[in-house]
Amino acid sequence: MLIAQITDTHITRERKPAYNRVDTAAFLERAVAHVNAMEPRPDIVVMTGDLVDEGSAGEYAILRDILAPLSMPVYLMPGNHDERGTLRAGFPDHAYLAQGGDWIQYAIEEHPLRLLALDTVTPGRSHGELCAGRLGWLADRLAEQPERPTLVMLHHPPFPTGIAHMDRIGLLQGAEALGKVLSQHGQVQRVLCGHLHRPIQAVWHGTPVSVAPSPAHQVAMDLRPGGPSAFVMEPPAIHLHSWTPAGLVTHQSYIGDFDGPYLFRDGSPAA
Ligand SMILES: [Fe+2]
Ligand SMILES: [Fe+2]
Repeated sequence: MLIAQITDTHITRERKPAYNRVDTAAFLERAVAHVNAMEPRPDIVVMTGDLVDEGSAGEYAILRDILAPLSMPVYLMPGNHDERGTLRAGFPDHAYLAQGGDWIQYAIEEHPLRLLALDTVTPGRSHGELCAGRLGWLADRLAEQPERPTLVMLHHPPFPTGIAHMDRIGLLQGAEALGKVLSQHGQVQRVLCGHLHRPIQAVWHGTPVSVAPSPAHQVAMDLRPGGPSAFVMEPPAIHLHSWTPAGLVTHQSYIGDFDGPYLFRDGSPAA
């Protein structure tokens, strides 16, 4: 099973450039074409939050149009830039979005890898939280099928990344309790996150966690304690997660026109 993870697409009102600089809609169009052109084609797409920039209905309408050419199921999750009500209203045919009641968190059962999406959103704030209710839901779902290989997805990475301005708006509540739940459930193959706009891997409370880059702008890699909140136009990318009985393998797939491929044998172009 192949899972394409697209995160932090930040679609803006009337496709205006984000931060007066980033044409996020055009970047997402390229990501959609990239996924559709992959051979073999991914079986599903997961989008781990910050789908749009301000949570407005118009932004979700643009998002919907741009995602329409994707030929496989797409699973959406909110990030701190999203708004639950307008997200649900914009995608009424995505029935799983209604599962979580007050939260957008859900279980997807029909694939070889079970998907559990957790909602870390704190309305009106940039940081993430997991309250006892949301964590209890996760613990209950994991206890239902302890033998079933499972992916857990949440927007805010649960650990400090060392990028100070992002850590200040990280998962500020519930992270340790989440770590405890994960450490009790060995079927979790990986925790998938967004929010950081750059690729990061960690093993946290014994569970591998990966953070995917954005198909648009990346957060600058700056580990100075006083580093400014800044982005860079490093190459756009998505994660491609390959699940087989041998385990979960993740590739970073860059989006763009790059020279090659050339055959190693004689340097001629590969078919
Ligand atoms: Fe983001
Ligand atoms: Fe975010």
